[in-house]
Amino acid sequence: MDVFSAMKDRRSVRAYLDKPVSRAEIEEIFHYAGMAPSAINLQPWEYIIVYGTEKNRLVRRLKRVHAERKISCGPGTASPLPEIFRNRSRRASRAMQPKVSEIGLEFNQFIEEGSCSFYGAPVAIIVTIDRLFPKLRYLDVGLSVSYLLLAAQAKGLATCPIGLISSYGDEITEVLDISEDKEIVLGIALGYADPKSPVNNFKTDRVSPDEIRFWYE
Ligand SMILES: Cc1cc2nc3c(=O)[nH]c(=O)nc-3n(C[C@H](O)[C@H](O)[C@H](O)COP(=O)(O)O)c2cc1C
Repeated sequence: MDVFSAMKDRRSVRAYLDKPVSRAEIEEIFHYAGMAPSAINLQPWEYIIVYGTEKNRLVRRLKRVHAERKISCGPGTASPLPEIFRNRSRRASRAMQPKVSEIGLEFNQFIEEGSCSFYGAPVAIIVTIDRLFPKLRYLDVGLSVSYLLLAAQAKGLATCPIGLISSYGDEITEVLDISEDKEIVLGIALGYADPKSPVNNFKTDRVSPDEIRFWYE
């Protein structure tokens, strides 16, 4: 698969087959994640791969803490988002909502509980960065995550980035015995997509390139 097809076809997948991903496959996609560029080649990203009984233990804990605190998916900004961004987010929700209704679930519940359980994917990836890095280095982590998502796509695997779980960083740190020096920035579900699930059967749109690029000449 060429890089353009991987970019075009990738989407966030929220229903997975009960089919394991081999260690060799996981190692291969991480090989590519590690090829991302980074400032002065710091490679500040770190990945914790959780599967099997450890993943079940992590999901149990996340579901429990979510039931107590009910943090919802949001932009994480201190002030409300301007309309232009709210519209983009609304359009994505509107594309997904009918598909979630088809499987008889309530939208917010599906997203929040699904995020906490990595949507039933066989592999949960926790992305961390050492807290000593300034926020600009989080950009490097994002680049590596992009490489990871595209490598998975090229291998016929599916992913969903999950920001919600970073709200439960303390619990994840405790369950997986991660050093306090590391910040949990993202979760990623990894597995084989269930092609029959309606929730995988929609594509989010993107704004026109004219809305996001500005020419100076
Ligand atoms: C940093 C980040 C955090 C995200 N967090 C969540 C999440 O917590 N739960 C979820 O279901 N999807 C999450 N997503 C997936 C986005 O909703 C999705 O990327 C967006 O709607 C565009 O759709 P697409 O990935 O199918 O192209 C996240 C994506 C990113 C990049």
